[in-house]
Amino acid sequence: MMAGYTIWRSISSKRNWQRSETGFGTSGTEDREVKLNGQTMANKVKTVWFCTSCGNESPKWMGRCPACGEWNTMVEETVATGKKTAVREQSVPGSGSSPILLSSIDSSTENRRSLNNAELDRVLGGGIVEGSLVLIGGEPGIGKSTLSLQIPLACPGMKTLYVTGEESTRQVKLRAARIGGDDSSCLIYSETLMENIIAEARSIMPDLMVVDSVQTMYSQNIESSPGSVSQIKETAAQLLRFAKETGVPVILIGHITKEGSIAGPKILEHIVDVVLQFEGDNRGAYRLLRSIKNRFGSTSELAVFEMTGKGLREVSNPSEMLIPMHGEDLSGVAVGAMLDGTRPFLIEVQALVSTAAYGTPQRSATGFDVRRLNMLLAVLEKRAGFKLGVKDVFLNMAGGLRVTDPACDLAVICAVLSSNFDFAIPSDICFAAEVGLSGEIRPVAQTDRRALEAQRLGFRKIYVSSFGSAENMPGDIDVIRVADVPTLCRSLFKGR
Ligand code: TYD
Ligand code: MG
Repeated sequence: MMAGYTIWRSISSKRNWQRSETGFGTSGTEDREVKLNGQTMANKVKTVWFCTSCGNESPKWMGRCPACGEWNTMVEETVATGKKTAVREQSVPGSGSSPILLSSIDSSTENRRSLNNAELDRVLGGGIVEGSLVLIGGEPGIGKSTLSLQIPLACPGMKTLYVTGEESTRQVKLRAARIGGDDSSCLIYSETLMENIIAEARSIMPDLMVVDSVQTMYSQNIESSPGSVSQIKETAAQLLRFAKETGVPVILIGHITKEGSIAGPKILEHIVDVVLQFEGDNRGAYRLLRSIKNRFGSTSELAVFEMTGKGLREVSNPSEMLIPMHGEDLSGVAVGAMLDGTRPFLIEVQALVSTAAYGTPQRSATGFDVRRLNMLLAVLEKRAGFKLGVKDVFLNMAGGLRVTDPACDLAVICAVLSSNFDFAIPSDICFAAEVGLSGEIRPVAQTDRRALEAQRLGFRKIYVSSFGSAENMPGDIDVIRVADVPTLCRSLFKGR
């Protein structure tokens, strides 16, 4: 006790010393000291600054993230105290793996499981791989929960653990009743604490686990609130560990920020194996599910769905929704043969050209880059002599699709000219070529596949660039080769 007293006196302030003196020789002093120390330890929290864009960690605030260069993205978050981190590092006994020889690994066992949904299987690269972590992202209300609930309902024999942190079990049941299907092997678990979820999943050992959504889950190892960068990182890391150790495929749902990236740090996309993102207008009926990252397949795949009263319907022939429904020929309409990933689509391009009501003409485009539209209009003005400078131009891509394929340039130009001249392009003609700055018509990749798709859909003529190769073109469609915009005008608009 004497030794303890000496140290205490030497380090404490005068007031504390006097206080300790009153209790000298009793255990109370030491208790209080320990308690005091204990309290300070418990209240000690460590905060760091995270970049919400890339997940970069910094001990202090910075206006600009040094890693990704974004401004105003640093947020302060509480992270675990040293004591708790030590607990997190403990691995589950018996679950560790040991190094094995590369030559002894059986490469044929990349076990894929079909999800009884042709579109989803296609975008995953032929089914879901055992032990993979798949992130499905998209705006609210686009159909992430609907799609992930449809999976167990379509696969009767597959034991699925559906963890819901957003909806009550009753809400999930109501949705399942609307979708229809067999719900006998699907377990619904309403929980948001990650440690409980993992423990439950380890005891159930399902064939598939769905977690809706990463932003509502939290781990007790981290002190910040659910949805924060550190919680999202931790939750995803725990799920990844679970998937890799047990071989259970996990589907993780994530939200999208206003800017269109998956909410939370970019690091989430690095952690998971596959990133699928929903696109499309959630007021329209069509939804595209695009593969952004896939460790087990191609990223050029695209799935198309239609939201119906009974969930998401697979659309195996997307052109059916994108080409004209009306019988007669209308001016301002042209059909472009575009390619998204590996899938050829035919899409209706609509343009409206009218005399500008105000001094400055308006240019507006839906589903198409307005700067590219301006460039194409400038090409028409300069190279073909059309006076569009005093006209309003509106452009719209059918089906709420966002088109980035340059092969649609020719269709855009033809739609604009068709509206300008009020001349209807016959509905059996389609277009597939890029337009260059000097007014030349340039070839695009895989023209033969575009022409084949057009022929399959009953088109009789396709306009392509005269510079491309003529190999593998289908026989039953008239291929018209044009070299520049003036030639096109002479051929299609009879020199108007
Ligand atoms: P949801 O899947 O909950 O979207 P997310 O999980 O991506 O936020 O819901 C998508 C929308 O679809 C919702 O507004 C309701 C609608 N919906 C239908 O039109 N038909 C259906 O059969 C279902 C289940 C939902
Ligand atoms: Mg949802």
